[in-house]
Amino acid sequence: MDMNNINIEEIVKQVLSGMTGNAPAASAAPAPAVSGGIPKTARVAMLTEKKHYEIREYPLPEVGDDDMLVKVEGCGVCGTDAHEYKNDPFGLIPVVLGHEGTGEIVAMGKNVKVDSAGKPVKIGDKIVTCMIFKDDPEITMFDLNKKNVGGADVYGLLPDDDVKFNGWFADYIFIRGGKFGSTFFNVSDLDLDSRILIEPCAVLVHAVERAKTTGILKFNSRVVVQGCGPIGLICIAVLHTMGVENICAVDGNEKRLEIAKKMGASTTVNFMNHQGIEALTNAVKEAQDGHLADFAFQCTGNPKAHANIYKFIRNGGGLCELGFFINGGDATINPHFDLCAKEINLVGSWVYNLRDYATTFDFLKRAKAIGLPISELITHRYPLEEINEAHETNLAMTGLKIAIINK
Ligand SMILES: NC(=O)c1ccc[n+]([C@@H]2O[C@H](COP(=O)([O-])OP(=O)(O)OC[C@H]3O[C@@H](n4cnc5c(N)ncnc54)[C@H](O)[C@@H]3O)[C@@H](O)[C@H]2O)c1
Ligand SMILES: [Zn+2]
Repeated sequence: MDMNNINIEEIVKQVLSGMTGNAPAASAAPAPAVSGGIPKTARVAMLTEKKHYEIREYPLPEVGDDDMLVKVEGCGVCGTDAHEYKNDPFGLIPVVLGHEGTGEIVAMGKNVKVDSAGKPVKIGDKIVTCMIFKDDPEITMFDLNKKNVGGADVYGLLPDDDVKFNGWFADYIFIRGGKFGSTFFNVSDLDLDSRILIEPCAVLVHAVERAKTTGILKFNSRVVVQGCGPIGLICIAVLHTMGVENICAVDGNEKRLEIAKKMGASTTVNFMNHQGIEALTNAVKEAQDGHLADFAFQCTGNPKAHANIYKFIRNGGGLCELGFFINGGDATINPHFDLCAKEINLVGSWVYNLRDYATTFDFLKRAKAIGLPISELITHRYPLEEINEAHETNLAMTGLKIAIINK
């Protein structure tokens, strides 16, 4: 069966049509719709120096015709937040971080009618923002790095200004319209945990889309997923949800391998139990009824793991390398034995594009429908005032996804 035929065309059309222009301006100019109970001031968690957030209270800004005020329900802590917390590589401090957030629209201007996919929005709807801009569906993180971080509209990575409510680590976030507008989606039909997991899941939807371009990944493929952190585990969940049955998870952590099974891995290999690449390859083969993998996903940031994974793949098989969001150093492979002679089809994958977001909403609904315990990926939940502890737990890597949950 050919998975390239999965129909995302319709979704893409919807996304694109929502990006071609703003909603028509209404002729009358009523005051912005406001639901009851909005306070005058609210809190943000401001990163004021490296490894230090302060909870600060500011007046909530007035909602203009193109703006939205959103009451934050929760926000995941991302690897990017960890980099900012430790190093401030983008030079944003002081900054309100948090881009994997979600919440409820409590006030909106008269010009806000639809989300970036053209879906109507109203007070009470639950939304997420997306790091990728509207108006350019093909834009990637490469462009993002050039354009943004220091000037554009990525909520959770905006420099501080008089608005203050610029990130999801807060009680409220202020989504500005007009030229400053963000890509946002109405995801009222997803539960809170699913909404918090949208962004990391989009990374894997994109990786699977990249894998599909090789033409090798099929429903009946034998697939190896190497690395069972959040990225590898979601990779397994996406593959399983789309109908891939033979998934072998490889990691050195037995607890994570157990979760891999819950996410849909049919077999697991603990690399700690096998000395040397030959023994490990044999174990992977054994787990797949004596066969090497048709396709493999590399989900660790370990260069040695990159070198190893070629051994697990059959001649003519495919590999998607997505484990290096940042530079993790050089890997040594033998181009003759590992790539040429095996005719490996290699693709790299980095972040996602806008259309992957729409696909991700459907993935999360399907995953829930088939009973995958996606919520278990969120292992720690902290209130906003414990955001420093949340980041320390994230750095300690004792859990999987860490989230800030507002009461
Ligand atoms: N491509 C992208 O856009 C993108 C996006 C986000 C994260 N990432 C990258 O994905 C990687 C994984 O992210 P994560 O959050 O799951 O990280 P993580 O550190 O929580 O998980 C990595 C897992 O790999 C395992 N591992 C390490 N060496 C191994 C080996 N030799 N063989 C098998 N397993 C091994 C570890 O035990 C761990 O469970 C990171 O390096 C991150 O940079 C990429
Ligand atoms: Zn993120």
